[in-house]
Amino acid sequence: MTDPQTVLTERVQQALAHAFGAEHADADPLIRPSQFADFQANVAMSLAKRLRRAPREVAEAIRAELSDFPGTVEVSGPGFLNITLDDGWIAAEAQSMLDDPRLGVGTVTPTQTVVIDYSAPNAAKEMHVGHLRTTIVGDALARLHEHVGNTVVRQNHLGDWGTPFGMLIEHLLDIGEEAAVGQLEAGMGTEFYQAARVKFDGDEAFKQRARVRVTTLQSGDPETLRLWHVFMDATVRYFNKVYGRLGVTLTDADLAGESMYNPMLERTCADLEASGTAELSEGALCVFPPGFTGSDDKPLPLIIRKSDGGYGYATTDMAAIRYRVHDLKAARILYVVGADQALHFRMVFAAARQAGWLPDEVSAEHVQIGMMLGKDGRRFKTRSGESIKLTDLLDEAVERATAAIADRGYDAATQAEIARAVGMGAVKYADLSVSHDSEYVFDFDRMLGFTGNTGPYMQYATARIRSIFRKAGMEPAEAQGTITSGEPAERALSLHLLGFGELVSQVTAQSEPHRLCAFLFETASLFSTFYEQCPVLRSDVAPEVRASRLALCALTLRTLETGLDLLGVPVPERM
Ligand code: ARG
Repeated sequence: MTDPQTVLTERVQQALAHAFGAEHADADPLIRPSQFADFQANVAMSLAKRLRRAPREVAEAIRAELSDFPGTVEVSGPGFLNITLDDGWIAAEAQSMLDDPRLGVGTVTPTQTVVIDYSAPNAAKEMHVGHLRTTIVGDALARLHEHVGNTVVRQNHLGDWGTPFGMLIEHLLDIGEEAAVGQLEAGMGTEFYQAARVKFDGDEAFKQRARVRVTTLQSGDPETLRLWHVFMDATVRYFNKVYGRLGVTLTDADLAGESMYNPMLERTCADLEASGTAELSEGALCVFPPGFTGSDDKPLPLIIRKSDGGYGYATTDMAAIRYRVHDLKAARILYVVGADQALHFRMVFAAARQAGWLPDEVSAEHVQIGMMLGKDGRRFKTRSGESIKLTDLLDEAVERATAAIADRGYDAATQAEIARAVGMGAVKYADLSVSHDSEYVFDFDRMLGFTGNTGPYMQYATARIRSIFRKAGMEPAEAQGTITSGEPAERALSLHLLGFGELVSQVTAQSEPHRLCAFLFETASLFSTFYEQCPVLRSDVAPEVRASRLALCALTLRTLETGLDLLGVPVPERM
């Protein structure tokens, strides 16, 4: 089965080559969905200009070449080609989509190794809502790339190293390992950090101990490293709890935190200096990638080693990019990280190119994640100004989902199961449905709504189709009828579904999960119209029409479920 727009593009290109010469075989026929037909091709206008001919005449010449086309082509207005596909063609293509286990989603050739850096919470602070979005978007991208056949290497670049660890380890010793582990596992990282901070700021002796501890940690003292592991293991157990609840695919094998690069930092600096990429400037080792200037027009430094000899965030990222290209053999590296780090990544990528660590054929992309805002339009926080604990947020989502489905008569276990899926689905879908780089207002009422482009609405759409099959007394997979074209609503739904494969390819290549959400939302809306206008199980419906409609229901269900699965949104069987 084939995407209609792709088929049309090829056909019109052939027509162009025939009518105007082979040099036009690669021209973009500018095919767009149209309100007057299925599609419209606008190439005649632009081509006419170049050929110095009348646009309508050019359009007519193209139309003449499309005589064996499975549909009708009309010239309208100044030279638009209005294209309407045959009902039979659409039905036959929908049928072959139903028969295709991949629903028309192709696999890429050649396959690529795609490194995806996502989630990356900071252990020294609480995992906050900003990390929720990088986690959810990153995980959807990982699922999409795997589905189209790429090799995905997930990298959870945890903030698990650096100066705060001196103070954190000393605080851990003060309160005792057991108490500390209990707090960290329970997600009280913020409280832990703040208590340590208060002592650090107010207690000179503690501050001194913390400073010494950083040095012993960095020099690899075994007992200090053991304490660091105690701290990190408890913290990671908490992160894993959150990942587990969200159904995020990250595992311990994907942990590649800042600490992992610690042994490479010295060489990173030495190599950058030796190759002349980095130079000393006021005691600090800096790269000045071309094209970056500050407000004073002075070249902007990427500081690789501070004047006190310390390494920073940029040092680690330089080591990481080299590792990802050289050791992980990345063809593409996606950094799913907050938009506020845009300058940092542009400079890291430029410096890595300069150093020859990032060859031209490897693409490094910052998938910018827009800030999470509260309803007041400010950075999302609790009323008292602290950042909101993730587990609390997820608890609230499930509580609200439970309330929303309370009156449906399910037993307690089923209700808990559905509420979990609805709550997590709502949070995840809300993060995914707006373009990743736009700011996003966190609003429980809206994301848990059962209408509009929301998780619950999408889940409800699939549950509704499942209930049709329950009423019919069959499994969706048993719907083997031949899809025939009938009513306009059936035709519109089928034509839309045919675009799924091409859309998934584009969404994956362009890191745009929100377009998959939009496609699925449109699918659910077209299904609603179909279901209103085309009875499926009513007794007066002829058996072959019923079979055809059930097959179309099955195709819609599989498309919705596959799409939601690629987004990582859970789908309950009932709602
Ligand atoms: N831990 C960082 C933060 O919370 C994000 C790390 C992103 N990845 C990277 N390679 N820098 O802002």
